[in-house]
Amino acid sequence: MKQERSSFSSRLGFVLAAAGSAVGLGNLWRFPYLAAKYGGGIFLLVYLILVVSFGFALMITEIAIGRKTRLSCIGAYKALDRRFGFLGWIAAFVPVIITPYYCVIGGWVMKYLFEFVSGGAMATADGGDYFNSFIGFDADSIGSTMLDFSGPTPWFLIFVLLTALVVIFGVEKGIERASRFMMPVLAVLAILIAIYSLTIDGAMTGLKYYLMPDFSKFSASTVLGALGQMFYSMSLAMGIMITYGSYMQRENILEHSVTQIEVFDTLFAFVAGLMIIPAVVAFNGGDPSQINAGPGLMFVTLPMVFESMAFGTVVGAVFFLLVLFAALTSSISLMETIVSVVMDKTPLKRRPTTILMTVVVLLVGIPSCLGYGPWAGITIIGMQFLDFFDFLSNSVLMPIVAFLTCILIGHVVGTKVIADEVKQGANAFHREKLHRVMVRWIAPVLLMAILLSELATKVFGLFTI
Ligand code: PFF
Repeated sequence: MKQERSSFSSRLGFVLAAAGSAVGLGNLWRFPYLAAKYGGGIFLLVYLILVVSFGFALMITEIAIGRKTRLSCIGAYKALDRRFGFLGWIAAFVPVIITPYYCVIGGWVMKYLFEFVSGGAMATADGGDYFNSFIGFDADSIGSTMLDFSGPTPWFLIFVLLTALVVIFGVEKGIERASRFMMPVLAVLAILIAIYSLTIDGAMTGLKYYLMPDFSKFSASTVLGALGQMFYSMSLAMGIMITYGSYMQRENILEHSVTQIEVFDTLFAFVAGLMIIPAVVAFNGGDPSQINAGPGLMFVTLPMVFESMAFGTVVGAVFFLLVLFAALTSSISLMETIVSVVMDKTPLKRRPTTILMTVVVLLVGIPSCLGYGPWAGITIIGMQFLDFFDFLSNSVLMPIVAFLTCILIGHVVGTKVIADEVKQGANAFHREKLHRVMVRWIAPVLLMAILLSELATKVFGLFTI
């Protein structure tokens, strides 16, 4: 018995759901540290250019593929061309890699929330030692390291279980409704914190670093970093937008929705950068080149911002609660994606599938939890586990999926298929030319060049650009 495919009741419903998936730790945690790491303004500029050109083209392509085929990614690629069926599988595999480490970071957020509500806030504002000893926690045995709340593993477990419970009981609706209220509050709070951050002594140097591009800092890595971040943040190249598109009604104007999701997602990332980068430069004595920008940036900098403000503990607690919510809505949609792929392809029902995938997420996530602590000695091509999974998904698999999608649409089935779908329910496809040139030529060439140079640099160490 084929079930009628459910659909979003309104265009706003679609935009909110897609934006809920897009806005998450990628905007708040990942964007600021990459921007700080890759040269500030130059990264921001490259990112913005990519979002309005390539991000737009790929997002509209994915949503149109979903709306046209009414299938999720595994079936959708195959329906367009049988030879590209494998691409759906690679795309579906990306969330399997992302979810575990996403939940590890979600666990970090929980730990910080706990510290802020239980009176330990001040301890976290020490310039990084607290954070490093938290993620690097190592007891005398692996067993006690994993069970001790001074380290990341129990927090990761709780975060995964929370996500799994929501997916098992199908209470996403409740979470979604709550997040419709929480997300705007988070946006307002982030703006207020950003304004406060800019008043800290010395923040202006950081602001300049963040906003003014320094072209001498431009390199292939800047582009790859920005590209991977764009995929991650806009939930692209992993089949998610295809699935969302398959729920979208034909009467809706696709192009408008894409523009709104893009603007929303990018504004969130931009404000997160404003909150964190000027402050970190100020706390570092005003020298942007001294910023040690890694995955810990948000966790090290924000507590210092909160410590320096009146009622900082309360503001910090509310902030981490809202971030936790944004992270949960995203991890739920990630987990939901994996579960629905397995349910589609096997006779398994929702509950056993979720339990099975939870075990997979736990097993794959544990190395990321222990990777800065007891397993710090183990590296894969020079990276800790978490960094490696992040690299594998954002810098390898997503560019491959995006490249092959461009080949499929641009040179096999033709961009007209997408353009026709976009025009359904709308009078015109305003950026049709841009879409065509991007998908056929610019994006694939850029993707190939960058992928090869990055692989050569990271994997073979042949040359550095
Ligand atoms: N786009 C999300 C973020 O920026 O945090 C990450 C993400 C969430 C990707 C959900 C995919 C997804 F299904």
